[in-house]
Amino acid sequence: MMTQSDLEKAAVDAVTDKLNNLLADYHIIYGHLHALHWNVEGKLFFTVHREIEGIYEGLAEDIDDVAERILSLGRRPVTTLKEYLEMTSLEELASRKYTTDEAAKLVLKDLDHQISAVRGLIEVAGEHNDEGTADFGVEMLRKYEKTRWFWSAFSD
Ligand SMILES: [Fe+2]
Repeated sequence: MMTQSDLEKAAVDAVTDKLNNLLADYHIIYGHLHALHWNVEGKLFFTVHREIEGIYEGLAEDIDDVAERILSLGRRPVTTLKEYLEMTSLEELASRKYTTDEAAKLVLKDLDHQISAVRGLIEVAGEHNDEGTADFGVEMLRKYEKTRWFWSAFSD
């Protein structure tokens, strides 16, 4: 496959490895959000159920953008759940009842993970002069920080 940018191979490898790790994390978090969307119960069910749907819809777009960024750099995105589970440090969530408070705390925990992972991506992209990926990361970071503010305002 052709490298579709003027970046050195080492730079492409470092950045796309980081992007593939992010892709793995996002898939696990996508599963978490569904576990919570479906299983949350309590007086604030309607709010939490609906708001979590908004997050996973946005994350589905980010998953596509991350994969297409990898392809733009001339590498292929990882596509199997088996590999995602091997690559991520995140654990899957069981299908059980979650209170709205518990769900909000788990959403915040994942947002913290996303923010830290994206910061790591921006750092590696910066070290390799890949401004395109750094800028892409900054855009995701801003979005996650805003979502984090919403959910921290919701939590006690
Ligand atoms: Fe739904």
